[in-house]
Amino acid sequence: MSIQQENIGKLVARREKAREGGGKTRIEAQHAKGKLTARERIALLLDEGSFEEYDMFVQHRCTDFEMDRQRFDGDGVVTGCGTIAGRLVYVFAQDFTVTGGSLSKTMSDKICKVMDMAAKAGAPLIGLNDSGGARIQEGIDALAGYGEIFERNILYSGVIPQISGIFGPCAGGAVYSPALTDFTLMVKGTSYMFLTGPGVVKSVIGEDVTSEDLGGASVHSTKSGVAHFAAADEKEGIATIKELLSYLPQNNADEAPIVPSKDPVSRIDDSLNELIPDNPNKAYDMYKVVRSIVDDGRFLEVHRDFAKNIIVGFARIGGRSVGVVANQPAVLAGALDINASRKASRFVRFCDAFNIPLVTLVDVPGFLCGTRQEYGAIITNGAKLLYAYGEATVPKVTVTLRKSYGGAHIVMSCKQLRGDINYAWPSSEIAVMGADGAVGVLYSKEIKAVEDPAEKAAVTALKKKEYEDLFSNPYRAAERGYIDDVIEPRNTRFRVARALAQLASKRQELPAKKHDNLPL
Ligand code: HXC
Repeated sequence: MSIQQENIGKLVARREKAREGGGKTRIEAQHAKGKLTARERIALLLDEGSFEEYDMFVQHRCTDFEMDRQRFDGDGVVTGCGTIAGRLVYVFAQDFTVTGGSLSKTMSDKICKVMDMAAKAGAPLIGLNDSGGARIQEGIDALAGYGEIFERNILYSGVIPQISGIFGPCAGGAVYSPALTDFTLMVKGTSYMFLTGPGVVKSVIGEDVTSEDLGGASVHSTKSGVAHFAAADEKEGIATIKELLSYLPQNNADEAPIVPSKDPVSRIDDSLNELIPDNPNKAYDMYKVVRSIVDDGRFLEVHRDFAKNIIVGFARIGGRSVGVVANQPAVLAGALDINASRKASRFVRFCDAFNIPLVTLVDVPGFLCGTRQEYGAIITNGAKLLYAYGEATVPKVTVTLRKSYGGAHIVMSCKQLRGDINYAWPSSEIAVMGADGAVGVLYSKEIKAVEDPAEKAAVTALKKKEYEDLFSNPYRAAERGYIDDVIEPRNTRFRVARALAQLASKRQELPAKKHDNLPL
């Protein structure tokens, strides 16, 4: 054998060993838990044969706690780049088979390298997390490593899309980095996110809690809102990440890809003319409208199970990506509460950062009131959504379907928040509040003064009718130009598509500033 062949043989053997990560037994343990390995995940994520791996031979440098006896080529993370549907992405996947994927300083160096490369190339970054957080044996070095990752998450926020998959028990820095990224996806039953695991929780505050109850996918996709997506298994999770990317541009200077559709933009949907119930207090399903107006009824919903009183997600109209924000009258009557405001404002800001036009469908009776909301700072949280819409410079097309009352009317992309084109259905009611509330405020003394119950009811009904005639329609707003046109519901897809086409070359700037100070 020539020296050259011997050298190549050594390389092949070392690569093979590196690909085993923490070894066969740990890989089997990973599979037994229903989890894939870091490399298997990358193989599922990227186009076949496109993965270019970096730093396969990097090892940690820790010598404390006998760590020098536990060295693995590549350490606990696999990094590199590849393509998804032919588009370049950078990726890191933590390897739980190597010290539980816990983060060493060298792992951080590897991750930061692909983050920097992604930013330089203007390509999305996808992190597949499966890690116990900072590697305890490395102490401050591991913390410094997280600090460096967080700083890059922040610097590149709004520059390239950053997507986090949570594919195992993730703690500490392994959850804070995802929290700084744009989207977080969890897998039901096998992934957890918490600051510290149940063992540490028990020893520090004495609380007994399971991993699932502390930070399972259902907790974070329904209660905390930390997770934007919850997948049934890893395969579905990776498919969702790919689908999400298909709606996004490569970076903030780019446009999202155009995906032509056979669904004509001129398609008319007569069923929308029948959708709004005669009784204004009766709900209907906003998903019907969303699916009716987007290409092929395809809608990738974000935060599907969290704050269901508002719907947000990605779709295409005329082949172009749009971000849809829609009140859902079937849940809490579509009222805006703290969680709905947080959910929608983050989505609006993402779309604005990445040049994705916003289509807003309005049916909102107002902000949810009461002590729970006030103590939880509905004022600050509602202001987030106000702020997000007001600062957004992407094309904003708004359709008011029914109620649009008070502060919630202003928040939902009204004309004065620089809404570009605002339509209303004839069923719209654009006013400070609904008739019941308004009559209660304006005529309470007169109504109280009437003693006979029948007469009292008649006076109330009369005042309500007067109010409704004035305000329970879109025309007061249309007369002032606050609504650009009142449209037939069945034409909504066509009108929205045409509005978006008109706005395709929209240019709008914000005043120069260091950065804003949105109400966090
Ligand atoms: C070193 C770690 C580790 C860590 C896990 N391991 N976490 N090693 N540092 N942080 C090792 C375990 O010792 C074990 O090694 C192997 O990984 C697998 O872990 P298990 O506990 O056997 O697995 P499992 O039961 O699935 O539990 C996973 C876990 C748990 C929930 C993640 O390991 C855990 O709670 N770890 C500690 C989490 C934590 O508190 N991290 C520090 C966060 S502070 P062996 O050799 O026995 O197989 C932090 C700072 C940044 O991250 C904060 C930023 C704000």
